[in-house]
Amino acid sequence: MSPKNVFIKTYGCQMNVYDTQRMLKSLSSHYQMTEDIEAADVVLFNTCSVREKAEHKIMSALGELKPLKKKKPYLVVGVGGCVATQNADKLLKKVPHLDLVFGVDQIEDLPQLIHNAKNGQRKSETSFKQEYSFYAVNSLVENVPKLVSSFVSVIQGCEKPCTFCIVPTTRGFEKSRSHQEVIQEARSLVGAGSCEIVLLGQNVNAYRTKEATFEELVASLDFVPRLRYITSHPNDVSDEMIRIHRDQKNLCEHIHMPIQAGSNRTLKRMVRLYSREEYMDKIKKIREEVSTIAITTDIIVGFPGETDQDFEETLSAIEEAQFDHVFAFKYSPRPGTPSKEKFSDDVPENLKNERLQRVFDVSEKMHLAQNQSYVGKKVEVLVEGPSKNNPKKLTGRTRNNKIVNFIGKNLPDGFKIKNNAKSFVNVVIHDVTPHSLNGCY
Ligand code: 5AD
Ligand code: SF4
Repeated sequence: MSPKNVFIKTYGCQMNVYDTQRMLKSLSSHYQMTEDIEAADVVLFNTCSVREKAEHKIMSALGELKPLKKKKPYLVVGVGGCVATQNADKLLKKVPHLDLVFGVDQIEDLPQLIHNAKNGQRKSETSFKQEYSFYAVNSLVENVPKLVSSFVSVIQGCEKPCTFCIVPTTRGFEKSRSHQEVIQEARSLVGAGSCEIVLLGQNVNAYRTKEATFEELVASLDFVPRLRYITSHPNDVSDEMIRIHRDQKNLCEHIHMPIQAGSNRTLKRMVRLYSREEYMDKIKKIREEVSTIAITTDIIVGFPGETDQDFEETLSAIEEAQFDHVFAFKYSPRPGTPSKEKFSDDVPENLKNERLQRVFDVSEKMHLAQNQSYVGKKVEVLVEGPSKNNPKKLTGRTRNNKIVNFIGKNLPDGFKIKNNAKSFVNVVIHDVTPHSLNGCY
């Protein structure tokens, strides 16, 4: 029997990108991936509900699917990921042409769930399982392109009390993956040509099993050419982790450590568990040990009760910290989160927009000045492939996660980006933008 086609649309964070690979693996004995939605027998939306905007996108994508379902009644339509967990039965009621709703812990059960859906069972299944249910994903998935840089999920869920965040509801309590399994997956990925492994977790530094702490896990991955991890709650970045950053050569000089806000009043209401001063002390310590490290962050503007003064403190924190990249978001009240229950969403939309723009302006100016210091310098780039905006150029990243677009003038004949030995090149930077470096190899 020829394999059927599955189309998966991924929204949201790296964790969702990884979960899509889990879905493909889970379905690989009966389905192959298609990029043509019209040719699909199964359409899955892997969703994100961190902000309301992401949720709206999914509802409209589901709406657009209605004519296809009408044309192909046997088509199975499923929604997985955070929106699924958050809305479960409500979604089935709201969207009549939806067949299946599944949570993050049901990915391995997908073949059965799809089979049931085909037999007319419209169902939502989103409960959390006790155990970490993943298994080696990437390297075993035939129909997923082998990547130069691969994600390896090490911990699911989060138990931090951040009042704005839906993740503890949608991804549940913290479950760390066995040390052996992580090592095995990393080994097979490196064996298959990956030059970079990115360890994933909503709060990755909280990883802990009977066999290893996060620090020990990182230390045991010294065979990976380039090692990264994302995301870090500042309180869980230990002194030992900072020392490992200094001493372990394959660990890249980058840490994504969301500050969220610069005013202590807001940080308290967010229950981020640190003050602005403690955050600044932490990055000072990190930079003292690893001077070249890039520190990136997330910011929320317009959190309930945020005054002009609070917001000015966020701007001043961005400048004080000299972040290498700032991801900024407008506060969006999420169902069931403490901040939605306790506070009113009282910063008007136009003020949120204005504040967001000011964060972008301050950050861009800062990033441009930082990037200008690279002009004339040579940087080591891991080549990821052709540049998105200009296929004549190649793109890749430096160890400290700067995007580099470059012309491969001197690339050897037969240069293959997947070839381990040739995936690292030294690029001379000749000009920069706030978000990338341009150069020549
Ligand atoms: N509103 C706006 N931004 C949010 N984030 C998480 N929850 C919300 C919310 N309710 C942002 C945080 C987090 C990033 C992944 O998304 O900055 O670090
Ligand atoms: Fe959400 Fe991150 Fe806070 Fe966890 S640490 S609750 S994932 S914002």
